[in-house]
Amino acid sequence: MKDILDACCGGKMFYFDKKDSRVLFQDIRNFEIVLCDGRHFEIKPDIQADFTNMPYPDNSFAMVVFDPPHLLRNVKKSTFAEIYGSLNSKSCATGYQHIKYGALPNSDWKEMLSKGFTECFRVLKHRGFLIFKWNETDIKVSEILKLTSEKPIFGHISGKRANTHWICFMKE
Ligand SMILES: C[S@@+](CC[C@H](N)C(=O)[O-])C[C@H]1O[C@@H](n2cnc3c(N)ncnc32)[C@H](O)[C@@H]1O
Repeated sequence: MKDILDACCGGKMFYFDKKDSRVLFQDIRNFEIVLCDGRHFEIKPDIQADFTNMPYPDNSFAMVVFDPPHLLRNVKKSTFAEIYGSLNSKSCATGYQHIKYGALPNSDWKEMLSKGFTECFRVLKHRGFLIFKWNETDIKVSEILKLTSEKPIFGHISGKRANTHWICFMKE
C-alpha cells in the first residue's frame, strides 16, 4: 500500500511528478481527449474508483488528498452520463472546465461530498492528514466544511481571484 492516496486525481495538474510512486492516483474517470483547439487532456488514474465507496481497508494511508469537483452541473440538458460516461475515448469536445474538473450533481452534491469526506477519513490512518482543496466559484467553502464533523487545522486561499482554498485536517 502506498503512503498517499489522491481520491480524485483528475489530470494531476498540481503534481511535480505525475508518476510519483508514493501516490496512489484514483479517479472515477479514465479517458483521453483532444479538444477542439487541439489541446490534449487525459485522466489516467492507477485505480478507477468512486470516492464515496473506496476499495481500501480502514486506516490505510498516511495522507489523503481530496480535490473533488466544485462546479455545479448547471447545463440543464446534460445528464450525468453525458458528462462522465461519454468521455471514454479520444474525441473532440468543448466545455473544458467540466471535462477537466468534472461536475457536481445539482441536487445531491451535499450527500456526495459528505460521503466523500467520510470515506477519506475512513481510509486515513489515525493521526494522518487530509489535504482538501476547494474552489468557491459556485459554493462557499463554509458550506462545504459543514459536510464533515472533522475539525480543520489551517487553510489558505490561493490569490484573491483564484477563489481556491487549501485546507489541512488531521484524523483524530
Ligand atoms: C477538481 S478535479 C481534480 C483535479 C486534480 N486535483 C488536478 O490536479 O488536476 C475533480 C476530479 O474528481 C473526479 N471525480 C468526480 N466524482 C468522483 C467520484 N465519485 N469518485 C472519484 N473521482 C471523482 C473527476 O473525474 C475529476 O477528475
